[in-house]
Amino acid sequence: MRTLIKDIFKKNFLNKTVTICGWVKTVRTQKTFSFIEINDGSFLSNMQIIASHSLKLDFEKIKIGTSLSVTGEVTESPGIQKYEIKAEKINILGECDKDYPLQKKKHSFEFLRTILHLRPRTNTQGAIMRIRNSLAFATHKFFQERDFLYIQTPIITSSDCEGSGELFRVTTLGDKDSKKLKDGSLDFSTDFFKKPTFLTVSGQLNAEAFASSLSKVYTFGPTFRAENSNTSRHLSEFWMIEPEMAFVDINENIEIAESYLKYIIKYILENNEEEIHFFEKFIKKGLLEKLNQIVDITFEKITYTEAIDILKKADKKFEFPIKWGIDLQSEHERYLSEEHFYKPVVVKDYPEEIKAFYMRLNDDKKTVAAMDILFPKIGEIIGGSQREERFHILQEKIKKKNLEEKDYKWYLDLRRYGSVVHSGFGLGFERLVQFVTGIDNIRDVIPFPRYPSHAEF
Ligand code: 4AD
Ligand code: MG
Repeated sequence: MRTLIKDIFKKNFLNKTVTICGWVKTVRTQKTFSFIEINDGSFLSNMQIIASHSLKLDFEKIKIGTSLSVTGEVTESPGIQKYEIKAEKINILGECDKDYPLQKKKHSFEFLRTILHLRPRTNTQGAIMRIRNSLAFATHKFFQERDFLYIQTPIITSSDCEGSGELFRVTTLGDKDSKKLKDGSLDFSTDFFKKPTFLTVSGQLNAEAFASSLSKVYTFGPTFRAENSNTSRHLSEFWMIEPEMAFVDINENIEIAESYLKYIIKYILENNEEEIHFFEKFIKKGLLEKLNQIVDITFEKITYTEAIDILKKADKKFEFPIKWGIDLQSEHERYLSEEHFYKPVVVKDYPEEIKAFYMRLNDDKKTVAAMDILFPKIGEIIGGSQREERFHILQEKIKKKNLEEKDYKWYLDLRRYGSVVHSGFGLGFERLVQFVTGIDNIRDVIPFPRYPSHAEF
């Protein structure tokens, strides 16, 4: 049976004979033996193999990228690595052509994006994926420990949750089949679902139906946005974690979001030590301190109106001018958390005009019970709100935002049949992975990134 390289480092295998499998990372040939380092993705460090040239083997075939199985005894290493294996038997599982692009040198993130199928074999990508995995696991752990039910919301939908029209259409109609109606709009009566359908931008509305019965639920799934944003923080396909809670108001919603963020970051600090040290050393100096800070401090809490005052007084020229009513831009969000408070900031009570129809109208009739959590370097990492639970006000808001009431009939029903105060939020999973790893571009923290003009592999 194969032993994972991780287990050799973490458990006691000293002087035991093991078989490991993996891909060659480096080969150094001496007179009578070769040093071969292999990695199987379970751990950051490679395992060093001492392969005597007396072994029956075509050493010419062992190159970077070759896949091997190696059987031998685990011994203490005199070198920098803790252990090594004295090979008794080596099998070449798959030879590697000499044009293998990942030769031993530093590759740019841009270049690696052109070979997404081989990118997982780099140290950095392996470390990112192990962090991603831990963050997903810790997310389920957090919500499960608090009696939330994990529910699955649809990916194909006919409603635009955020009302911003950034939807990818789902259709089986070809160009030839799409007829236009008299008013110029497309005729979907012959389409698969007999109505316009899209890839979802958020599972929230469906999650609300379940929170209105199961009390505490969360979704964790892919979401899609057809916005033409070529930034280091936007993807066309990203993953979102969306808890939705009945009997919870905006302030409790903020408390839960803050404790969730602290919990998962603490989990990473306790369970992914090797990866975090790797990112600290090679990607972002000061990362460890920044992560520890999140766990220890209390997030700053301000209202949108206070945020605007701070930005107006800032000794800084912004590209987008500041006035009450504007949507906060990334430069504003980052100023608040990076340069003013030096920590995460929760901004609440945004103007009604700039936020989605479902957010609860405050008593001032100008703002809604929305909250965004802004992180240094990332900007908005969480967006959430208390939902409008009052039927007539919600109906008014749907009209005001020029949405079709008939499309939201089922959603309004939730307000007619035993409506309750409820709240929720959405965390952009890739922005979280970016923060935890210190990786600059969001395209490097998801296995196969989708962004404008890019859907390869
Ligand atoms: O603020 P957003 O649009 O909120 C919602 O979709 C709500 N329905 C969530 C809820 O209350 N259940 O998106 C939530 C988060 C953002 O804070 C951001 O972290 C991330 O999703 N996000 C994106 N991440 C990557 N690429 C994009 N294009 C993103 N758009 C939003
Ligand atoms: Mg938002």
